[in-house]
Amino acid sequence: MIPDMCCKEDEGLKIEGVSVNDIVEKYGTPVYVYSGSRIRENYRRLYDALKERYDKIRIHFAAKSNTNISILKILKEEGAKLDTVSVGEIYLALKAGFRPQDILFTGTNVSDDELNYLIDSNVVINVDSLSLLDWVLDKTHPEILSVRVNPTIGAGAHEHLITAGDDSKFGILERDIVKAYSKAQHAGVNRFGIHMHIGSGILDPDPHRKATGKLMNIVRNVREKTGIEFEFVDIGGGIGIPYEPQEKEMDLERFADEVIGCFKEKLEQYDLGNPYMCMEPGRYIVGDAGIILTRVNTIKKTKSKTLAGVDAGLHTLIRPAMYGAYHHMIHTGCTVDKEMETYDIMGPLCESSDFLGRERELPKLEESDILGILNAGAYGFTMASNYNSMLKPAEILINDSKHRLIREAETMEDLANKQRY
Ligand SMILES: Cc1ncc(COP(=O)(O)O)c(C=O)c1O
Repeated sequence: MIPDMCCKEDEGLKIEGVSVNDIVEKYGTPVYVYSGSRIRENYRRLYDALKERYDKIRIHFAAKSNTNISILKILKEEGAKLDTVSVGEIYLALKAGFRPQDILFTGTNVSDDELNYLIDSNVVINVDSLSLLDWVLDKTHPEILSVRVNPTIGAGAHEHLITAGDDSKFGILERDIVKAYSKAQHAGVNRFGIHMHIGSGILDPDPHRKATGKLMNIVRNVREKTGIEFEFVDIGGGIGIPYEPQEKEMDLERFADEVIGCFKEKLEQYDLGNPYMCMEPGRYIVGDAGIILTRVNTIKKTKSKTLAGVDAGLHTLIRPAMYGAYHHMIHTGCTVDKEMETYDIMGPLCESSDFLGRERELPKLEESDILGILNAGAYGFTMASNYNSMLKPAEILINDSKHRLIREAETMEDLANKQRY
């Protein structure tokens, strides 16, 4: 959650000193609002915890969680590199000023056109299949190449968020890894990285520790069979954030102790040199730095429920409908003396799954009240859609108690713009 939210009786909610009412009045609803200082704090907390324990740390921010160029620029200023999964993300990363050598491409199932763009853009390619490896080696001589390993240890807050396992669509299985590196070596590549990403929304250090141990055993095997000394070992992203009020945040000290501890132990035990240790967090960096402000349009009773209809929906935040994800909601107005009521919070789409929350205890709502949907900084806008021909909202960045428009809201013309009729 954005930490210094304060709600004064007379003014309603403020985020870093900026009144929610001012934002809503100026930009309308729904609207995504981000805290620049929270993004920086999250980045530094993670970087410092890792760096304290191992000197060569790199954080590749996972652009898929939030690709707003202004947000990418903040992370660039902090010293982050980027993990990208599409050529569109590479395009935006370059616009934000990242150097190609600081952009890792971890796409899966890539088309020929995308591959050509990749080669031209000169980013670091992290191959996810043997066929992609063949293509890359056929078309170019990469200065450095990485291979995404499927360590078959997966974890995540929902089955759709698990990205490793025997039949996962991601990465290359251990049995083919030595073959992959040997091929690249024979093709003349001489600088290498290795990578995994086991899943997302993980609040316990155990899966990362176990998977890091397995990855390091693979590093050792590759080293023994090919002599390769890795420049970086990337253990992926996936650190979760507490979405529900009773959830506890990841114990970062324990995470860093265990994961870096395991990494260093294997480096020493197997004499694996001094590679960079990389992580690619998305949600941990931007998740709790974003909030969606949404207006109550309708209060409606069904046989057994009270529904509050808001102007955000699954087109604005798909996580509740897609993963059954919980996002905490708050009333942003003055709620002193209001009784509590239980609501199901529905969006405006013609779609039965368009609910943002069920059974939420909130101060009694009235039409035109503004709700804040918390922890919407990651996988909010990037997963938004125009379903039902809804318009994508504006994005606002708060920095030093000032708000700034960092993406205009779409207009009706945008819906027709690319159509030919
Ligand atoms: C390859 C890769 N790296 C990093 C991430 C970031 O995950 P998270 O936002 O959970 O940290 C993802 C997310 O799916 C990913 O696919």
